[in-house]
Amino acid sequence: MDNLLETQLEKLQVEQPDFPECFPSLNPFDVYRIDIAQALSELSGVQPNTIYSLLQRTATLDKGDLLLPVPALRIKGEKPNVLASRWADQFPQSALVSKPTVDGPFMQFHFTPSALVKRVIPSVLQNRSRWGSNPLLGLKDVKDTSKGQKRVVVEFSSPNIAKPFHQGHLRSTIIGGFISNLYQAAGWDVVRLNYLGDWGKQYGLLALGYKMYGDDKALEADPIHHLYQIYVKINSLLADERKEIEQLEKDAKDATKLRNEGLDEQARKYFKAMCDNDPDAISMWKKFRELSIQRYKEAYTRLNIHFDEYAGESLVQEGSMEIAQSQMDSKGLIEESQGAAIVDFSKHVNGKPGKALGKALIRKTDGTSLYLTRDIGALFERDAKYKFDQMIYVVATDQELHLKQLFKLVELTGNDGLRSRISHVSFGLVLGMSTRRGTVVFLDDVLKDVGEKMHDVMRKNEAKYAQVLDPEKTADILGISSVMVQDMSGKRINNYRFNMDTMTSFEGDTGPYLQYSHARLCSILLKAGIPASEMESSNLDLLTERHAINVVRLIAQFPDTFQNALKTLEPTTILTYLFRLTHAVNSSYDVLQVVGSERELMKARVALYEAARSVINNGMRLLGLTPLDR
Ligand code: ARG
Repeated sequence: MDNLLETQLEKLQVEQPDFPECFPSLNPFDVYRIDIAQALSELSGVQPNTIYSLLQRTATLDKGDLLLPVPALRIKGEKPNVLASRWADQFPQSALVSKPTVDGPFMQFHFTPSALVKRVIPSVLQNRSRWGSNPLLGLKDVKDTSKGQKRVVVEFSSPNIAKPFHQGHLRSTIIGGFISNLYQAAGWDVVRLNYLGDWGKQYGLLALGYKMYGDDKALEADPIHHLYQIYVKINSLLADERKEIEQLEKDAKDATKLRNEGLDEQARKYFKAMCDNDPDAISMWKKFRELSIQRYKEAYTRLNIHFDEYAGESLVQEGSMEIAQSQMDSKGLIEESQGAAIVDFSKHVNGKPGKALGKALIRKTDGTSLYLTRDIGALFERDAKYKFDQMIYVVATDQELHLKQLFKLVELTGNDGLRSRISHVSFGLVLGMSTRRGTVVFLDDVLKDVGEKMHDVMRKNEAKYAQVLDPEKTADILGISSVMVQDMSGKRINNYRFNMDTMTSFEGDTGPYLQYSHARLCSILLKAGIPASEMESSNLDLLTERHAINVVRLIAQFPDTFQNALKTLEPTTILTYLFRLTHAVNSSYDVLQVVGSERELMKARVALYEAARSVINNGMRLLGLTPLDR
């Protein structure tokens, strides 16, 4: 645990109230939940805990701030709407909430504005970048900080060397980056892991291709594209060879020579040499791997992502796979099929689920291992190395079956504890993603294209364009925000269509709109020029307008939204919230003017805007975006 976090934890009252997941010092909503639960418990005789857990945030502000669905209390005898009305009538006077309103069986609670404003704004201004996050959630024991943090391993991105960085990798990168940030802000110790596809016969083939077409200079300059070009060329040669063999056999001619000496066989041999640790074979492949990683790192940095470990299929130890295989053997899972080792799930899992899992190849005839086997070995190694409390695989839904097989094998081999600590966060496809260079996509190219497009959009407003300090850089950041926000707009599992025009627009719920909203707040605050100390001591009673109160009500929701995101692991949970807040802020400027207002009022409004800016900034960073000031 780092020092900063430790002092922060000390400051927080680690004394836990008796309510589940209750953090009044960090989440203003919990203060209100406690208040309402206690008052209503006295009226209804229902346990405060039960009421506490059922109080939920409203979807829109006109429905109040917290809502209680009375039917969920399951009280026999009386109709929920009758109960709701009666309790609302009897609800005691409170400094925190006004008299509840009733909508059918729902009780709606409205926070008293002045108390809310005075609780929330100072808290945001004191905590700034920390406000909204909750470092208590990741503690092994909330009541005893010395037991330390829980650890989560997040495996994400995981592209394949010499192959395109396709849409699945892009989404895994964006979503995995977000999930890592989220856990970190929740006080977990996060290990970011990239599991490269860097092993298999195809890498033997690539090495052969490199001997024929490789160019060291081109490799140094642009390893990812150069290796891909070679990969394409050598694969087309291989396809020709396969056709030739087919033709020979059709014509009843002898294809033995081609079979025994052709590319396919050479690639197999080369890969075998890699497996046997042949120094030449290994050094070439290592060079490919290292140069590619260097290049990936540059792209990840632009996305605010760093990895703690570049693992890969190649690095999984034979020994770990052997352990896995012997566990499967001892449970009688493995059978032989034409010289290879397989698991037929339908024999070990009953009914439909067993059939759906099908058969999995564990080891090939020549003894080389497979994707699935490596994954099990890798999992055992990660467990031993990191002793994680949770591990999350951020992988596209098209690998659902693979991960289901993996998880089932972990279970069938009796590793139940391990099984309960791993999960799959999946996501749908991006449709129609292509770049100016074609439909085969590389991350660099996507970011470059969107950045250029953004630069064009910016140039359309000459006056504003002239004020931007570093247009290239700004366009680049806006481009990245466009791609990321589009990706995070819907639920993960939905497919979406890659649309360069909509995502780069400043209108609608887009990345540029979010950036614009943040930058506009920055410039208002800059123009106002109120020193921090004056802002912090401003008279918040002056914030009385409906617009101001609504902005504060939304700001107050951030910590609760954050906690909810940790449950959904959906970027859209945060993003949707940020759009609600930015809409409320952007529509308040005409009413809540700063420049031109009387000094005291100006200070209070600046405090409000600074609090909003802080929260937008925190939310954007959580998503992995780089907030722009101009
Ligand atoms: N490299 C793989 C691919 O591109 C993704 C790896 C997913 N992770 C895993 N542990 N299998 O398809």
